[in-house]
Amino acid sequence: MTQRLAIRGDLLDFTAEPAWGEVDSPAVRFRPGHWLLVEDGRIAAVQPDAPDASWQRIDHAGRLILPGFIDTHVHSPQLDVIASYGTELLDWLNTYTFPAERRYADPAQAEAGAALFLDALIAHGTTSAVVFPTVHKVSADALFAAAAERGMRLIAGKVLMDRHAPDGLRDDVVQAERDCRDLISRWHGRDRLAYAVTVRFAPTSTPEQLAMAGRLCAEDPTLYMQTHVAENRDEVRWVRELFPEARSYLDVYARAGLLHARSVLAHGIWLDDTDRAVLREAGAQIAHSPSSNLFLGSGLFDWRAAEAAGAAVSMASDVGGGTSLSMHRTLADAYKVQAMAGERLTAWKALHAATRGAARALSLEHEIGTLEAGRLADLCVWDWAAGPVAERRMEVARGLHEKVFAWMTLGDERCLAAAYVNGVQRHRR
Ligand code: GUN
Ligand code: ZN
Repeated sequence: MTQRLAIRGDLLDFTAEPAWGEVDSPAVRFRPGHWLLVEDGRIAAVQPDAPDASWQRIDHAGRLILPGFIDTHVHSPQLDVIASYGTELLDWLNTYTFPAERRYADPAQAEAGAALFLDALIAHGTTSAVVFPTVHKVSADALFAAAAERGMRLIAGKVLMDRHAPDGLRDDVVQAERDCRDLISRWHGRDRLAYAVTVRFAPTSTPEQLAMAGRLCAEDPTLYMQTHVAENRDEVRWVRELFPEARSYLDVYARAGLLHARSVLAHGIWLDDTDRAVLREAGAQIAHSPSSNLFLGSGLFDWRAAEAAGAAVSMASDVGGGTSLSMHRTLADAYKVQAMAGERLTAWKALHAATRGAARALSLEHEIGTLEAGRLADLCVWDWAAGPVAERRMEVARGLHEKVFAWMTLGDERCLAAAYVNGVQRHRR
């Protein structure tokens, strides 16, 4: 039987990329008090009037409805180390993160961790994600299976790391290739899942492993690739020592054939203009992770320079380096990072990078990121405010940007009233 849902609320999405600094942007589509019609998991139409009785009506009048957020870089096993004190990247990995990831060799831990992580993502209003599990094949299997159960769009892959990691967290080139091929054959393109060749970062892969990863990408251009790049100054120095032949950190990946239109590179703080031009040429994107960059003291991402070079930028929590799965908190941090450089990030630019912008950068615009008819119904219903301070701020806000900016800055998962994935309600307060 056809499932027909009609959900009313204040619909907000984007029809184009908002220009930098533009508060009155023609790219913003705001349709207050409209009905969003969902038929068999897909957005069928948006209309001002209530539909006929063949549609089940769900009235969220006075609430905001947005496409589900897309987190383009997050680590599922790192809920166990979120908010760990006192270290920068390399110490943080050795002290907290690697020991926690070792636990994911255990299938029971991998399964329980994947379920907890995906339910938490949805409960924060994030319905799609690009995810690092661990080096263990079983952790990728568990994550894909849990995403399939929830009908989620998920991009992930077994982490590749064959050096500079402790026992229990290293693979080798031959076994890693075998595992990748098996995972790709079973998960890539199944339901809403896609495989990402997942190089942890240059220091933890030998040149032979990077070359193997590059071969996988070359064989199948529908595969994604995810990694970290130029996050921390000590890390950049280490990469220069390990790969003296490369022009830059990014060049290590370019030489291995890892930069293409489906490459997602987290951070990119310590890049130069040549690197940014290489990213544009490849069509690769930066997953900007401001919460993580502040928490680990990594640096301030130059979004304007990336934009000027034509490199795509999407938003990412990078939990557990980042301190929240909330895209609100992530975007609020992104604003502050830009403010430190004297720049002004509009709510439009920020929200676009967490919805339509991320979808476009992932070549998934046909499926997610907007409330356009034909897209899958991944959407979230939000209160405009949670608590008396935000309520008061909303009362006095004038104009749409002022209101949405305050919502983005003051809000978090407490504002989430309901989340739909593929037309199915997966979270309700
Ligand atoms: N670089 C290599 N691994 C990681 C990780 O797990 N988190 C972050 N933020 N950076 C990394
Ligand atoms: Zn990361």
